[in-house]
Amino acid sequence: MDSPGHRGDTFRLDGEEVPFAPGETVLEAATRAGRHVPHLCWAPGFAPHGSCRVCLVKVGTRTVAACSTRAAPGLDVTLADEALTAQRKSVLQMLFVEGNHFCPSCEKSGHCRLQASAYADGIEGPHFEEFYPDRPLDASHPDLLLDFNRCILCGLCVRASRQIDGKAVFALGGHGIGSHLVVNSTTGRLADSDVHPDDAAVGICPVGVILKKRQGFAVPIGQRRYDLAPISAEARPDEDAP
Ligand code: SF4
Ligand code: FES
Repeated sequence: MDSPGHRGDTFRLDGEEVPFAPGETVLEAATRAGRHVPHLCWAPGFAPHGSCRVCLVKVGTRTVAACSTRAAPGLDVTLADEALTAQRKSVLQMLFVEGNHFCPSCEKSGHCRLQASAYADGIEGPHFEEFYPDRPLDASHPDLLLDFNRCILCGLCVRASRQIDGKAVFALGGHGIGSHLVVNSTTGRLADSDVHPDDAAVGICPVGVILKKRQGFAVPIGQRRYDLAPISAEARPDEDAP
């Protein structure tokens, strides 16, 4: 058997043959092959969540989420497509207005996947009316701060806490517009949970919700990950690994 898949196990992504291993999704295989498919609620090593809808691709004429579409021999997948880009831009703009994303004052600016994805698609403004939610911060923990106003409900912290840290510090609660991030502790405060600043759940947040205290602006603006290279440059094996 050839690594990583069987000989001949390929699908087409924008006309380019991409090899895949049995069971892999289009997003996993494309990422491993060095192709960047925009995504927010997925990270290597995690099962698909399918919530952000940023990873939209076309399979034939159908628009699907690349993170939850199994790769199959001969699949004809399109990513570079004007209509798809327009759709993805709307999805990203909705994510911006649903929360409070004031990038210049956010510690995650330059390290934020939402901001970097917006830049990659040339988004210059919110387009939709801002919701301006008012969600109280949780600054109870001595080393960590939670700003719920930036949560895009990707569920990565929930999955990382369970899958990697062997804990259950975070959960998603509520439905629809009332969906929100929950801290699993008797008081609902982070200080009363068993979170540790080195937990994978802390580091995996793609936006600026889970922040370490006393590390503000340790890396100057202009020298951060997505200041140095666009997010589209990161689809290389291991680079996205949690
Ligand atoms: Fe995702 Fe961060 Fe919200 Fe957790 S806190 S669900 S990682 S955006
Ligand atoms: Fe596919 Fe979020 S990465 S829906």
